[in-house]
Amino acid sequence: MRLPQPDVTGQVPLEKAIKSRRTIRSFASRGITFKDFSQMLWAAQGIIDAGGFRRSVPSGGALYPIDVYAVVGEGGVEELDAAVYHYEPRFHEITLRTAGDLRLEVARASLGQMWMAGAPVNLIVTAEYQRSSSKYGERGVRYSMIEAGHVGQNIFLQAEALGLGAGIVGAFHDQEVIRVAKLNPGHEPLLIMPVGYKK
Ligand SMILES: Cc1cc2nc3c(=O)[nH]c(=O)nc-3n(C[C@H](O)[C@H](O)[C@H](O)COP(=O)(O)O)c2cc1C
Repeated sequence: MRLPQPDVTGQVPLEKAIKSRRTIRSFASRGITFKDFSQMLWAAQGIIDAGGFRRSVPSGGALYPIDVYAVVGEGGVEELDAAVYHYEPRFHEITLRTAGDLRLEVARASLGQMWMAGAPVNLIVTAEYQRSSSKYGERGVRYSMIEAGHVGQNIFLQAEALGLGAGIVGAFHDQEVIRVAKLNPGHEPLLIMPVGYKK
């Protein structure tokens, strides 16, 4: 499914977004718009050059080991069914991974951090180490984790700029998250970021 074109002329100063960023753990129940959902994914991993290659975050050797999945709850995103979607940067679109509202299961897999299920969307940031390790060996794992950190900060700052808030979760059972969200083989979850309107 194609996503709306990202906005590249936002009005919120970067410094304001940095200053107001906090880890949000309490969200309003209302969903976010399809446009804001699209914008969040673009900020996380979107293509930013005319050549259709370079992404919103830097990457060692431009090998781009990161993928982003969205766990969308019932009514979590206007016009979108509850499901897990995979973001495809190249065409700025999403593909369906598995239908249904899986936020509770993701929260359970995250050592029972049930506040996560209160967010309309949970973004899962994964790394496929092989993409980076094929060139950099063991160091590719380090690079992939650093890159996930860049993605996390972009998600935080984009959320702030849209009047939303984001949380960040590193405490989860990897295999459980892989199973629940039906992540592609080899995509290791590194961060889960709940996103929505702050309560
Ligand atoms: C790698 C990483 C993992 C984290 N994991 C969790 C988590 O599992 N649960 C949680 O509630 N907060 C988690 N946090 C959020 C931190 O608790 C939070 O960033 C810290 O308390 C500072 O607060 P601030 O982000 O509001 O400035 C994590 C943060 C990072 C960077």
